[in-house]
Amino acid sequence: MPSRVAIIRGLRTPFAKSGTHYARLTALDLGKMAVMELIERSGIDPKSVQEVVFGNVIPSVKAPNIAREIVLGTGLPRSIPGFTIGKACASANQAIATASDMITRGYADTIIAGGSESLSDVPILFSRKMTEAFMGASKAKSVVGKLGAFKKIRPKDLAPDAPAIAESTTGLTMGESAEKMAKENHISREAQDRFALQSHKRAAAATASGRFKDEVMTVVLPPSFETVVETDNLIRADTTLEQLSKLKPVFDRKYGTITAGNSSPLTDGAAAVLLMSEEKAKAEGLKPIGYLKSYAFAATDPFDQLLQGPVFALPVALERAGIALKDIGVIEMHEAFAAQVLSNIQWMGSKKIAEEKLGRSEPIGDIDPTAINRTGGSIALGHPFGATGARIVTTVCNELQLTGEQYGLVTVCAAGGMGAAMMLERE
Ligand SMILES: CC(C)(COP(=O)(O)OP(=O)(O)OC[C@H]1O[C@@H](n2cnc3c(N)ncnc32)[C@H](O)[C@@H]1OP(=O)(O)O)[C@@H](O)C(=O)NCCC(=O)NCCS
Repeated sequence: MPSRVAIIRGLRTPFAKSGTHYARLTALDLGKMAVMELIERSGIDPKSVQEVVFGNVIPSVKAPNIAREIVLGTGLPRSIPGFTIGKACASANQAIATASDMITRGYADTIIAGGSESLSDVPILFSRKMTEAFMGASKAKSVVGKLGAFKKIRPKDLAPDAPAIAESTTGLTMGESAEKMAKENHISREAQDRFALQSHKRAAAATASGRFKDEVMTVVLPPSFETVVETDNLIRADTTLEQLSKLKPVFDRKYGTITAGNSSPLTDGAAAVLLMSEEKAKAEGLKPIGYLKSYAFAATDPFDQLLQGPVFALPVALERAGIALKDIGVIEMHEAFAAQVLSNIQWMGSKKIAEEKLGRSEPIGDIDPTAINRTGGSIALGHPFGATGARIVTTVCNELQLTGEQYGLVTVCAAGGMGAAMMLERE
């Protein structure tokens, strides 16, 4: 049986605010670009790929299995199967975990995993009454019958029905849930804005220094191929604490602390990683950027604090890896909201939470918010839901290579009260 899963390399498109660079593209377009360039840069034989596993949260109604569409749309051999995973913001983490399990079972030795999202291209649905009228009209035999199917339609039935970023159980949006967490955990507006500032300053510095050249590709925008996108367009190098402090709260306009500045923005983008068994990587003479040591997914009650999933996943991933939190040199936490990261960190360090919520006698451990996300996070870089997990896994592995640290950690919170934690190692 293969021993470990090697991450050969990872790559992503630049991330863009939805409705900007990629306004006319789909998640499939973005996913194809990332996968094609990943194969190109890796120098592997496309025929050696045995599966494509992709995360996607808001699927196209016309081609919902984006992974297989990527195979068919990139010139990869048509014999390669592909499947798509929806696990909210942890979709790419689950894609990587599931692909890794296939490799450690010995069912495959080379898999591309990742994710893609376009919030510029969300399916806008008709109301249920309009849908019924269309169905009735399609079955009617005469023109009069077809028109008759619409006779009960009222103007309100014509209103479009767009997917909401809201929990089906609680009815609260992600932002409202983060607002609840900020209030219950007493996370101040200033602490959130400081954390957002750190995200932007670090992302800007990393971009300027060329740190992302190995993990962010250049996109030449179709159909005219005249515009070249080289960097993420959401990073604000010049933002200040003063500017951030002046932004109005969005999700609770009267008493809230969460603003456009301390939230992750609606984003388009794709990211992918090439996974191999350690043995195959050695045989091919490839130098992996890291190895997956363990992972864990967990969930909490969405009616409690929705975005605390990482707190429940982390101790399990640590135990599975046999590593203590203090031994981890590179920590990347997905930033859905500054209030969520700071709330996760607060709960991870709390003995009371350990006893009451985790059934543990000791807290998971202390994390310094200034020591994580050294090249910025989702607040500044953006957060294409299905892709973020693959972005972060790649960044952690590259940081391990650059710093010489042995262990890295990824945490991601996700809708539904879910959370992911992945342990990576350099050698
Ligand atoms: C918060 C949210 C509603 C803001 O959307 P938006 O209003 O389109 O955001 P914008 O980028 O237009 O920013 C609003 C304003 O804040 C300003 N702003 C945003 N970030 C800033 C920063 N870092 N510094 C200074 N100003 C900033 C913008 O310039 C803009 O100002 P303007 O109105 O004068 O043009 C949207 O990003 C959102 O829904 N995010 C959450 C996504 C989510 O739920 N994800 C799930 C995570 S699990």
